Amino acid sequence: MIIGSNLFYFENLPSTNTHAALLLKNSDVREGTIIYTNYQSAGRGQIGNKWESEDGSNLLISIVLFPSMINPSDQFLISMAVSLGICDFLKRFIPSCSIKWPNDIYVNNDKIAGILIENSILGDKIENTIAGIGLNINQNAFLSDAPNPVSLKLLTGKNYDLINCLKMLAGDLDARYKQLISELFTQIRDEYISRLYCLNKWCKYEDQNGIFTGRILSVTEYGRLLIERPGGKISEYSFKEVGFILRHLSNF
Ligand code: BTN
Repeated sequence: MIIGSNLFYFENLPSTNTHAALLLKNSDVREGTIIYTNYQSAGRGQIGNKWESEDGSNLLISIVLFPSMINPSDQFLISMAVSLGICDFLKRFIPSCSIKWPNDIYVNNDKIAGILIENSILGDKIENTIAGIGLNINQNAFLSDAPNPVSLKLLTGKNYDLINCLKMLAGDLDARYKQLISELFTQIRDEYISRLYCLNKWCKYEDQNGIFTGRILSVTEYGRLLIERPGGKISEYSFKEVGFILRHLSNF
């Protein structure tokens, strides 16, 4: 086992990703080390957002990796593998989940997990990766203005043992990381694409020109999203250039 071979637990931290970065700066860290906490006072989400998580209810972890087999230009493969590992974990408890590009984990139209990958690149190598995961397990209610959070408990009505969940999640992420080590890149890409939220469905999106209808066709090898318009035109987007108009907020 690589992911989970070493674990640091803290009752609370500002952010597990920030703590992992500090460890990497100040000491030797074993690959696969997990930083795990019950509560983050400054949990970080994508695009500078905060990550809400009630004390002791959910999994808040960061994993330190040294993915020397991945070229910096292919770094989106890491996001894909982590997303798939979380889906593998969730499929133990619920029939299906999907990945809202680039790496939000969805059940139906609600977000159950967020991923914050921070790669440190030196020359033509990825020096290290911090893969931060917030996975909602037992939280009953969400207070922030996040549009559509959900937890495993809200979906199934059951409470889960967090340590058991952490062990299973680590195992599932480890299996996906080993696919990366074995350079099974096409397999990872194909599975990721097949799990995409709104794949091949006509949905609403917004880009710099306004709201439009389109359908996701695929993701390029650099992680850019390909959306087809009704007239057949295909546009390619990188993160932040396009937003989803969430289904339960629009008039579908
Ligand atoms: C998102 O915006 O969807 C990404 C959320 C990532 C949250 C996790 S919680 C554990 C790790 N530590 C952080 O500060 N953020 C990530």
